[in-house]
Amino acid sequence: MSPNQPPPSSKTLVIIPTYDELENLPLIVGRLHRAQPEVDVLVVDDNSPDGTGEKADEMAAADPRIHVLHRSEKNGLGGAYIAGFRWALERDYAVVVEMDADGSHAPEQLDRLLRAVDEGADLVLGSRYVPGGRTVNWPLKRQLISRGGNVYSQLALGTRIRDITGGYRAFRREVLEKLGLESVASAGYCFQIDLAWRAVQLGFTVVEVPITFTERVIGESKMSGSIVKEAAVNVPRWGLEARTRRLRGILASRRA
Ligand code: GDD
Ligand code: MN
Repeated sequence: MSPNQPPPSSKTLVIIPTYDELENLPLIVGRLHRAQPEVDVLVVDDNSPDGTGEKADEMAAADPRIHVLHRSEKNGLGGAYIAGFRWALERDYAVVVEMDADGSHAPEQLDRLLRAVDEGADLVLGSRYVPGGRTVNWPLKRQLISRGGNVYSQLALGTRIRDITGGYRAFRREVLEKLGLESVASAGYCFQIDLAWRAVQLGFTVVEVPITFTERVIGESKMSGSIVKEAAVNVPRWGLEARTRRLRGILASRRA
């Protein structure tokens, strides 16, 4: 990057998916804009029964940095993010961030992710499991699922990423352009693994930076058993596919 050019993070969109986050939404957006006044926000609401969508419209009417995408029904975290990514790619954002609405991802730590992008990373993962990263008030059951899911993914995919299921991340737009968003079917945790793994496979530079993940105080998690199952079934399949591709490559180069 030339020293005269503005860094990519000067054109950042933070996507916040919401389902029943009426109380949390103004809090998180307020914190975000105090920490990073320049970023735009896209709320992707799945017709929340508690009126989060209307609240988001009100906030957008009062602040040009805030935008809202309304979807007609609850369609999973993955679907909401894909819709948000498309919205971002139709505009000229250079960096796109994923952030939960419930306060688990501290906006005050966003600078760590953005700095890593500006220093050359293509995908930055906010990580609970690198030195300096941690979780606060997370129930033991969730910690075990999360740790287990990461070890499972490391083994199945042969990746050294420590926190591949996390949902606090920053993508350089080129990554989203090349991932093949149209073929992403994953809905839950699996969506996070899917996208990071695609980025690795495409040869992008994936970097982990430590974050503090704090369990939400208001509202409830939308994660479920079916979300864990989706990952358990898909991740080994992706690993096998990648290994098969590599093997075919080796055999082809031997024949040549
Ligand atoms: N639009 C939309 N549609 N938003 C959703 C949906 C949906 O179907 N499901 C969840 N969300 C929103 C929530 O409103 C919240 O802002 C965010 O997505 C995260 O949902 P939570 O239900 O709070 O997730 P969690 O705390 O259990 O899981 C978090 O940690 C996981 C890793 O441990 C998330 O960050 C996951 O992405 C992550 O994999
Ligand atoms: Mn949460």
